[in-house]
Amino acid sequence: MSFSQIGVVGLGIMGAGIVEVFARAEYQVFGVAESALAVDAGKSNLAKSLARAVSKGKLSQEQSDEITARVTFGEDFALLADCDLVIEAAPEILSLKLDIFSKLDAAVKPSGILATNTSSLSVTEIANATSRPAKVVGMHFFNPAPVQKFVEVISTNHSDGEVVSQIVEIGNSLGKHLARISDQPGFIVNKLLLRYLNHAVQILDSGQASKEQMDAAMRELSGYPMGPCELLDLIGIDTCVEILKTIHADTQLEIDEPATGMVKLVSAGNKGRKSGSGFYDYSEKLEIPTDPNQDIKDQVHNDLLIAYLGDCIAMAATGYATKADIDSGMKLGCGLPEGPFEVIASLGIEKVRAAQVELSERTGIATYQPLSV
Ligand code: 3HC
Repeated sequence: MSFSQIGVVGLGIMGAGIVEVFARAEYQVFGVAESALAVDAGKSNLAKSLARAVSKGKLSQEQSDEITARVTFGEDFALLADCDLVIEAAPEILSLKLDIFSKLDAAVKPSGILATNTSSLSVTEIANATSRPAKVVGMHFFNPAPVQKFVEVISTNHSDGEVVSQIVEIGNSLGKHLARISDQPGFIVNKLLLRYLNHAVQILDSGQASKEQMDAAMRELSGYPMGPCELLDLIGIDTCVEILKTIHADTQLEIDEPATGMVKLVSAGNKGRKSGSGFYDYSEKLEIPTDPNQDIKDQVHNDLLIAYLGDCIAMAATGYATKADIDSGMKLGCGLPEGPFEVIASLGIEKVRAAQVELSERTGIATYQPLSV
């Protein structure tokens, strides 16, 4: 099957980013959202992203116009009828996704593949909302979708192997690096990333460090492109809370319960960049001051890094994902300068294990203990 027409449902930051990725790769794209307002927001997200590329000299105005011309926006699912692949990028609410998939099932031609960009929800449950579960997969992009080069391809027990291979082929045509994973809450990257982000807010809630100290620590001492609070604001704190709820329902571990600081911000409507404020205020250009308190930065950096490395070791040791996919996911999905197993190789596994024991004993949290395999 050759793919030429691609549909995207949901035109928030992720949906509009996915539209851009496909339109840049010369696919004919149909972007659908539930209201005229949401369609306008999608158009404006695409226009802003292309204007940024033009202003940086990465695209000519002519190329930007060609990309825009490949996209048709609208509110009607009938626009998607002839699409070979439709990707859903709606908010992380299962009932909403189930409703969208049952509508897609009715609207899209029977040979069309339906994919969800869910961050953590069960792709199997979503597939079950259709009459074509063999043609339903997860295709999980990272924010900003035009920048991050990693895509997780999630298959369920129903997925047709041929369909999964076609999705991998399409992903490659977008210039993305793909990893295949079975349907598990949080897949590879979000399972690791969200626990790390939650850990940061737990530290913040405990008063041990400020958000600025934590963000400075991870930027300065590990070279991360963003600190945890900045990243929570980028992803959307509401989305992060929803992902954590799904992961927590699976693990039942206290450390996966969404941290109070996040829940409170969401209740107050401070969802991050998309709502104008979250941990930080975005009414002006964000400038995070560098914090001179090196001891606090060293401590939070140690704690966040060691807990995260321990999770990566456990993920690989239990056969959940390969070390290579974990390294690629964290580097190409989140822009980290090194994959966790590269960090472990340079620190030395014995040093990491000793630090895990120290962290577990100091905090009283058994999950931080090294896995005995
Ligand atoms: N849309 C399109 N392009 C964008 C963009 C956007 N929203 N934001 C930045 N860019 C591009 C810029 O044009 C620039 O491109 P160039 O290198 O070709 O000139 C490049 O990205 C770097 O941008 P800037 O110089 O303006 O800014 P930074 O260097 O600070 O980078 C960043 C911004 C790319 C967002 C970087 O900080 C980063 O990688 N942060 C980590 C983001 C991350 O972890 N994402 C994954 C989150 S998890 C997820 O999405 C999964 C979900 O399920 C929750």
